[in-house]
Amino acid sequence: MNFFEGKKAIVLGGKTGLLGQALVRALHEAGAEVTATARSGLNPLNSEALNGFIDREEPALLFNAVAHTQVDMAEDEPEEAKALNASLPEKLGQLSQKMGFRLVHFSTDFVFDGRKETAYVEDDPTAPLSVYGKTKLQGEQKLLALGLDDLLIVRSAWLFGPGRDNFVSKILRLAKTRETLSVVHDQIGSPTYTPDLARHTLALVDAGAKGIFHVVNSGRASWCELAAEAIKIAGLNCRIEAIPSSAYPAKAVRPAFSQLDTGKLAEATGKTPRTWAQALRDYVYTDLADQFTEE
Ligand SMILES: NC(=O)c1ccc[n+]([C@@H]2O[C@H](COP(=O)([O-])OP(=O)(O)OC[C@H]3O[C@@H](n4cnc5c(N)ncnc54)[C@H](OP(=O)(O)O)[C@@H]3O)[C@@H](O)[C@H]2O)c1
Repeated sequence: MNFFEGKKAIVLGGKTGLLGQALVRALHEAGAEVTATARSGLNPLNSEALNGFIDREEPALLFNAVAHTQVDMAEDEPEEAKALNASLPEKLGQLSQKMGFRLVHFSTDFVFDGRKETAYVEDDPTAPLSVYGKTKLQGEQKLLALGLDDLLIVRSAWLFGPGRDNFVSKILRLAKTRETLSVVHDQIGSPTYTPDLARHTLALVDAGAKGIFHVVNSGRASWCELAAEAIKIAGLNCRIEAIPSSAYPAKAVRPAFSQLDTGKLAEATGKTPRTWAQALRDYVYTDLADQFTEE
């Protein structure tokens, strides 16, 4: 019998979140009994409501895919970002201690400052540049400080996938009607397909992995390369103009280089993720098939 068969799992943010929805699908496929939440049904910042909900569900596993992910907006809303990205995971850690469920939490490549020249490993020094990165790092630290027996923190990056707008879906929508798009070339990272992230996360849980792990698709790209590849796969006629970040000013500072190394994941599960370019084909040809098959 597989590890997830018949196990009760909660996915916070599983009804609407980009990653949350992929986790729900992967858990269903693995045979788990899944309850997904949306903010309309459960306010995770209301301690009483959160306690009562988890108490009633009695999960074996809880995946926290809720976060304040609006990186620029977080600069103006540091308290809101801290509540969701730092205080909520700490609260979930305390509940996991009390109720005995296994907690899986997600974090980000934005905990790094981007000055390294080779892919970041899990114990590289962190130095976030933004409110989002700082509050996500606080979430990791608060959880680790609880000394839980059974905690998994998965850092990922540059997500694309079905169910919610993301960088790739936005680029493809714009590329349908524009001749040229200007995209930043001097930020490099690890584009990651949410169904792949969900599957590798479940493989880590199955392997009994504990602590921090990097889970991203293999390879690296700039935003510009990711946009160009998506447009090529979709067969659209739109030219990508490479621009520096300085020509596209944003409130939050982002790391210039944040590729994540997945060696620790491969050691724990025996699996190395496929490349982001292969995964991107699945996203465009399968998930977005209705948008790119006419002619
Ligand atoms: N997206 C990326 O590129 C990326 C990169 C690295 C790491 N991550 C991490 O991966 C995890 C999942 O990210 P994601 O991109 O899937 O996030 P997402 O699509 O923005 O989803 C976030 C979820 O949190 C919910 N949420 C936000 N504010 C809330 C609030 N005040 N009360 C209740 N629920 C609230 C959202 O609900 P609504 O749908 O109602 O807004 C949504 O279900 C996060 O931990 C994130 O830090 C993401």
